[in-house]
Amino acid sequence: MIRLLPSLVALTALALSPILQVAAHGYVQEVTVGSTKYTGYLPDDAYECPQPKRIMRKIPVNWLVEDLASIDIQCHGRSGGGSAPASLVGTIASGDTVSFNWTQWPNGHTGPVLTYMARVPDEEDVRDWAPEKEKVWFKIDHAGKYEDGTWASESLGLPKLKPWTVRIPPNLKAGQYLIRHEILALHVATKYPGVQAYPSCIQVKVTGNGTALPEDKDLVSFPGAYTAETPGIVYNLYIIGELPPYPIPGPEVWTGGN
Ligand SMILES: *[C@@H]1O[C@H](CO)[C@@H](O)[C@H](O)[C@H]1NC(C)=O
Ligand SMILES: *[C@@H]1O[C@H](CO)[C@@H](O)[C@H](O)[C@H]1NC(C)=O
Repeated sequence: MIRLLPSLVALTALALSPILQVAAHGYVQEVTVGSTKYTGYLPDDAYECPQPKRIMRKIPVNWLVEDLASIDIQCHGRSGGGSAPASLVGTIASGDTVSFNWTQWPNGHTGPVLTYMARVPDEEDVRDWAPEKEKVWFKIDHAGKYEDGTWASESLGLPKLKPWTVRIPPNLKAGQYLIRHEILALHVATKYPGVQAYPSCIQVKVTGNGTALPEDKDLVSFPGAYTAETPGIVYNLYIIGELPPYPIPGPEVWTGGN
């Protein structure tokens, strides 16, 4: 019974394959938190019973978020569904690294790679916390267009196929956090709507003796951080000659004083 659904989906996919090929993008298939590997949220997960245990919140795999004002921009819900908490929490020491292993990213889906964190209030549990539209997110990493003209997203595609690695700010105060990792694909971003966001969130507990927390001025909301007017949301990759510098959307990277 449970297995019937994926095969139906596969049949439909076959029937629609020219459309789906256009819509096939990518997702994080594995996350390494410190030295522990976790499976990402996979295409079949939605059909499994019981639900597989993940640190990654549910996403509609191979889909994108176009409406930057929708709650879906937060952790990649769908159709206004927002983010559904996952059942596991990874543990990571401050200063240690998390790496996001994407499925082979299409090289034509060029753009920046950005990572944010949000601190879970002390009285809450990350396994049932969703920050709605509160300003809770601070940026810990971003990269856009490099000086040699290549883009951050390109290391996730062929031939490199490198996982994206970010460091938890070394002085970050211990506690539970969401980590929101995203690619913004600019191949149709010459106007808004157009840019395609591919966010996903993992649940972690940060350990260590850090004392730093971001201030209010470092925090943004999702939705809220990006609008049609935010620099880098509308951008033309197809200008003949040298592209103008690319302004990476969102706030500065917060380093916690390091
Ligand atoms: C990324 O995940 C895939 C699928 O599990 C795996 O085959 C591949 O080796 C991983 N890449 C790295 C660098 O760990
Ligand atoms: C945190 O502080 C305690 C007490 O000073 C020390 O034993 C421990 O090694 C420290 N932990 C880290 C990760 O630095």
